[in-house]
Amino acid sequence: MTTHHPPARASSVRMRAMAGLLALLVLACMIAGIVIFAEGRAPFHHDDASFNGGDAARGAIIFAAGDCASCHARPGQPDRLKLGGGLALASPFGMFSVPNISPDPTDGIGSWSAADLANALVGGLSPTGRHYYPAFPYPSYTGIRHEDIADLYAYLKTLPPVAGRAPPHDLPLLFRFRPAIAFWKVLFFRQGRSEAVLTGDLIHDRGGYLVETLGHCADCHSSRNLLGAIKPETRFAGGIDPEGTGFVPNITPTRIGEWSESDIVRMLETGETPVHGRVGSTMSDVVTNTSQLPRSDREAIARYIKSLPPRLTPQP
Ligand code: HEC
Ligand code: HEC
Repeated sequence: MTTHHPPARASSVRMRAMAGLLALLVLACMIAGIVIFAEGRAPFHHDDASFNGGDAARGAIIFAAGDCASCHARPGQPDRLKLGGGLALASPFGMFSVPNISPDPTDGIGSWSAADLANALVGGLSPTGRHYYPAFPYPSYTGIRHEDIADLYAYLKTLPPVAGRAPPHDLPLLFRFRPAIAFWKVLFFRQGRSEAVLTGDLIHDRGGYLVETLGHCADCHSSRNLLGAIKPETRFAGGIDPEGTGFVPNITPTRIGEWSESDIVRMLETGETPVHGRVGSTMSDVVTNTSQLPRSDREAIARYIKSLPPRLTPQP
C-alpha cells in the first residue's frame, strides 16, 4: 500500500505545477487582452463628414428625448442648458462626476468633431479611444440614428459654453482602471443595437426608439446584476434606484396595466399619475424633458409602454 504513496505525491506535485502554469497562462491572456482592448477601436473616423450639417431645431428634440440635461446641466443653477457638468452620480461602484459637455473648447467638448460625438454615443469611446463607464448610458444610446447624432451635434453647438471642469470620479482603486471596461463591453455591450421590439406600427415603433434608445427608460426601471448590467428578465419590471435611493417602479402591465395610453401621455407631460398624485425623484427631471417633446412622441412612448410584456417585480 505504502509503495503507492510516492508516485501519488509526485503526481500531485505535477498537478500543482500544471495548475500554476495554467493560472499564469490565464493571467498572461488577461494582460494581453487588456493591452489589446486598452484603446477601443472607434466606429467612426474623427473626420467622418457624414455627421455634419445637422439641424439644430430637430436636435433640440433629440436632446430632450435623450434626457441629457438631467445629468449634464451644472447643479445648483436654474438654466438646464448650461451643460457644465459636476453632478455627483452615486452608484454601487463609486461616485461618478458628470463631465462638462458645453461647447467650451477646453473644458467642454467645443473642439470635438461631430464624429467624435458619434463615437461617444455609439461606441462609448472618447476621442482618444478611452472607454467610457456605462454610468453614461451609451449602452442604450448606441442604437441612435446617425441623422439624429448630426442634429444633436448641431444643437449642442448652439448652447452657451461653460468654463470649468467637473471634479474627477471618486471611485475605489479597482474601478479606476478604464481598460477593464473593455471586458464589461465584451460581456454586455452590443454596439449599434437597440432593444426595441418592432411591430410595423409606425407609432409603436417610434415609441420603441424613444423608450429603448433615446429615453433609456430601462436604465432606471430594471434591476442590475453584480457587474451593473441590466438583467434582461427584469427589463422595465423595476429595481433598486441606481443611485441607491429607493425602488424604481415596475412599468409593465403587472403594475400599471390599469393606466390608459392617455394616462401615460398626461404623466409624461405634467407628471400627474392617475393613481397617486405626481411622480417625483429622478422621474420629475425625465418629465421636464418629455414635456418638451412633440405630443406625437409622448403618444408613441405611451403606446410602446402599453405593449410591454407583463413582468413580475423582482425582489430587491
Ligand atoms: C445618467 C446620466 C447621464 C445621462 C442621461 C447622459 N450622460 Fe453623458 N455622461 C455621463 C457620465 C457619468 C459621463 C462620464 C463617463 C466617463 O467618464 O466614462 C458622461 C460622458 C459624456 C460625454 C463624454 C464627455 C467627455 O468629456 O469625454 C459626452 C459627449 C456625453 N456624455 C454626452 C451626452 C449626451 C449627448 C447625452 C444625452 C443624449 C448624455 N450624455 C446623457 C452621464 C450621463
Ligand atoms: C433617471 C431614472 C429614470 C428614467 C431614465 C426614467 N424613469 Fe420613470 N421613474 C423613475 C422613478 C424614480 C419613478 C418613481 C417616481 C415617483 O413615484 O415619485 C418613475 C416613475 C415612472 C412611472 C410611474 C410609475 C408608477 O407606478 O407610478 C412611469 C409610467 C414611468 N416612470 C415611465 C418612464 C418612461 C416611459 C421613461 C422613459 C421615457 C422613464 N420612466 C425613464 C425613474 C426614471
